[in-house]
Amino acid sequence: MKKDTNIIYNKSYNITTFGCQMNEHDSETLAGMLEELGYVEKPNRKEVDIAIINTCSVRENADKRFFGTLGQLKKIKEERPETVVAVCGCMMQQQHIIDTLKAKYPWVDLVFGTHNIHQFPELLANILNERSKIVDIRDDGGDIIEGLPAKRMYPFKAYVNIMYGCNNYCTYCIVPYTRGRERSRQPENIVNEVKTLADSGVKEITLLGQNVNSYGSSSGFSRDFADLIYMLNDTDGIERIRFMTSHPKDLSDKLIQAFKECNKLCNCIHLPVQSGSTKILSRMNRKYSKEDYLLLIRKLRSAVPEIAITTDIITGFPGETEEDFDETMDLVEQVRFDSAFTFLYSIRKGTPAEKYTEQVPEAVKHERFNRLVDRLNEISLEINRSYEGRTVFVLAEGQSKTNPRTITGRTKTGKLVNFKGPLKLAGQIVPVRITEGRTFSLFGEVIEEKYR
Ligand code: SAH
Ligand code: SF4
Ligand code: F3S
Repeated sequence: MKKDTNIIYNKSYNITTFGCQMNEHDSETLAGMLEELGYVEKPNRKEVDIAIINTCSVRENADKRFFGTLGQLKKIKEERPETVVAVCGCMMQQQHIIDTLKAKYPWVDLVFGTHNIHQFPELLANILNERSKIVDIRDDGGDIIEGLPAKRMYPFKAYVNIMYGCNNYCTYCIVPYTRGRERSRQPENIVNEVKTLADSGVKEITLLGQNVNSYGSSSGFSRDFADLIYMLNDTDGIERIRFMTSHPKDLSDKLIQAFKECNKLCNCIHLPVQSGSTKILSRMNRKYSKEDYLLLIRKLRSAVPEIAITTDIITGFPGETEEDFDETMDLVEQVRFDSAFTFLYSIRKGTPAEKYTEQVPEAVKHERFNRLVDRLNEISLEINRSYEGRTVFVLAEGQSKTNPRTITGRTKTGKLVNFKGPLKLAGQIVPVRITEGRTFSLFGEVIEEKYR
């Protein structure tokens, strides 16, 4: 093998990914780059030549899980010192984490951040050639690099980044510090990527950004997010378009109109509310009130009657009183979310809310959290039961993780459906009659003989 080609055969890698879809997609890019270099993926970290941990820092338990995983890698490194251990992602964009790594984990070979993922092959080559430790973190905001490879989990579904970073500075959130300022990809580049994906057999795309509703605004584009949806809706071969995440303050009437007019845009929206109390929303710097949010929901539902609405809610933000929490419970009653991600407020170093006095005691946070989750689950179950007897169209993904005899997939409204059927259905949109609605999923049976 010639050394200067950087092509390596029979070498393997494993990537552990924490965090959101943005991180999952970054891991797909890392995997794509490694496969171009000739590496193959292996499920067991113990056996690989390169082990990567792609980290998330959004809540304290994400940090804890990272250090737990790193502890396991230490043992592997002791047994196989030639294994390259690399860590990357949002945690690495924080100086206190880098300081901890340097002081307590000197055996980690490579540390890089969210802004220089594209340089990974170069950094890896340096490690392999010189076997010296590299820490390379950029805080310059990050350029937009086009044309990076990606190894996707499914051949028929793909994530597409439309923008990077965040300018919103919600007072609890670390993301603007770990992902830099908001910057959008040129619409033409996105359209071309989606065409290429469609040509390779992709049927469903999920557009990614921390706040897709402000797409283009900070880059001064004449076309906004709704325009982009109209452009992508014309792509032959693409059957479903999803996006996440939407900030309520920037959800436009034009986008609501796009839901009515773009047949491929899925009738579901993840619209994080965070709290039902206007006072808390203001302390969170969310820039909308409870009433603004409820008005958006009314507009969405009158435009798209069947739309599924999901959300994120934080309990125990500093200063949240029982009355504030009651406002959240009231909002939940009024909206009746299809499902929700709920979080205990977690102090993040360097964010404005870290300095807020009136931190809510842990026990109170937990008690509110449990009450909220119980009610959300009851509502999800009621909504999912209303699907019983109906026929839905499911993009089949593959074998269910919990029951190998069932196929799993999603409806256009984003509901997880399990049904009996052959594995060859993966990648097809299949009519399924729902026989049972459960809290987190639907169960059903395929209705046409040809799909059995
Ligand atoms: N950009 C997306 C979400 C990014 S983080 C948006 O604005 O909606 C995903 C979710 O994590 C947030 O919606 C919020 O509910 C939660 N979150 C972020 N920081 C948190 C913190 N410090 N404590 C608890 N939950 C947090
Ligand atoms: Fe965080 Fe707010 Fe930006 Fe979402 S919009 S990533 S919650 S700062
Ligand atoms: Fe976590 Fe970074 Fe996403 S902090 S939630 S992986 S943007």
